[in-house]
Amino acid sequence: MTALMLQATADGLIQAADLLKQGELVAFPTETVYGLGGLASSDTAIAKIYSAKNRPNFNPLIAHVHSLDEAKKLALFSSTALELAEHFWPGPLTMILPRTTTCPASLLASAGLDTIAIRIPAHPVARQLLEIVGEAVCAPSANLSGQVSPTTPIHVAQGLSNRIAAIVASGKCDIGVESTIIDLTADKPTILRFGGVTPDDLDLLLGPNHYQTIKHAVNDQTPSAPGQLTSHYAPSIPVKLNQLSAPENEVLLGFGPVLKSAQTSGFMNLSEKGDLNEAAANLFSMLRELDQPQYSAISVMPIPEVGIGLAINDRLKRAAAPK
Ligand code: TXA
Ligand code: MG
Repeated sequence: MTALMLQATADGLIQAADLLKQGELVAFPTETVYGLGGLASSDTAIAKIYSAKNRPNFNPLIAHVHSLDEAKKLALFSSTALELAEHFWPGPLTMILPRTTTCPASLLASAGLDTIAIRIPAHPVARQLLEIVGEAVCAPSANLSGQVSPTTPIHVAQGLSNRIAAIVASGKCDIGVESTIIDLTADKPTILRFGGVTPDDLDLLLGPNHYQTIKHAVNDQTPSAPGQLTSHYAPSIPVKLNQLSAPENEVLLGFGPVLKSAQTSGFMNLSEKGDLNEAAANLFSMLRELDQPQYSAISVMPIPEVGIGLAINDRLKRAAAPK
């Protein structure tokens, strides 16, 4: 099986929705990264997602929905959850909420937890597709587990082409790093993953210190929370962080202005003008491009730990973690 490349036209989306409703897997664009979609209510579709990605079963999935009404069928919304939904949806915020007793999503999608992760994506193609499907679609990033997330249809095809039914192709993702995940089932809202919505954005709504963040697990055997695997988003060659230059056998991945004399062969720049949003959008595609055996490592220049820079540094730390 080789995945069909579907265009994001009315016909293409109807075909994609039909495949999803038949329990097949279809990758589609979101504003963050490409997702690997499977019907949330279908145990077999969800099982197929785990096996296509080689994903450990303890790592649950995000349900993507078209509307808040659809989301309310899956999960119980507290007043904080409603406030966050109103402010940040559609958009790159995923909320962890208690499942409703009648939640139609497969238990496998929650990996046995009594909570569920939900978001309404902002990408117009994702929204149209979800509207045609008419029910929740679970979608992890459309890459093999542990590898760099895809921000173009070509990236998806490179990892999954012979494992899924179709790919809806619609260019490069705007944001480039995954959604922010906030757990609203704890006493205090807890950020489980930095992403497209920054802590500053959340501060505006919840007030400073109204949420906490969690540390990543020390190793993959004992994740402190599902999905907090240390080595993740990893190229096959080593990644070194906070480097101002690189020896000849390594390739430098820059940020901000970089002197010609410091630029190695193969040098790329996440953002020459030092723009963090541009850097986030380029991150995964540049890591993929530089992941070549002729280099002994990718040396990455320092990225400021502010705004979406928190998400960039999180992904880079995991790309650099021992495998
Ligand atoms: O931007 C995104 O979020 C992308 C696009 C496709 O929407 N999706 C994505 O999914 O990044 P994935 O599967 O790669 O990451 C989902 C994360 C995992 O780390 C998982 O452990 C966590 O969400 N998660 C899902 N359900 C959870 C739950 N009930 N409790 C705690 N964490 C959960
Ligand atoms: Mg992922």
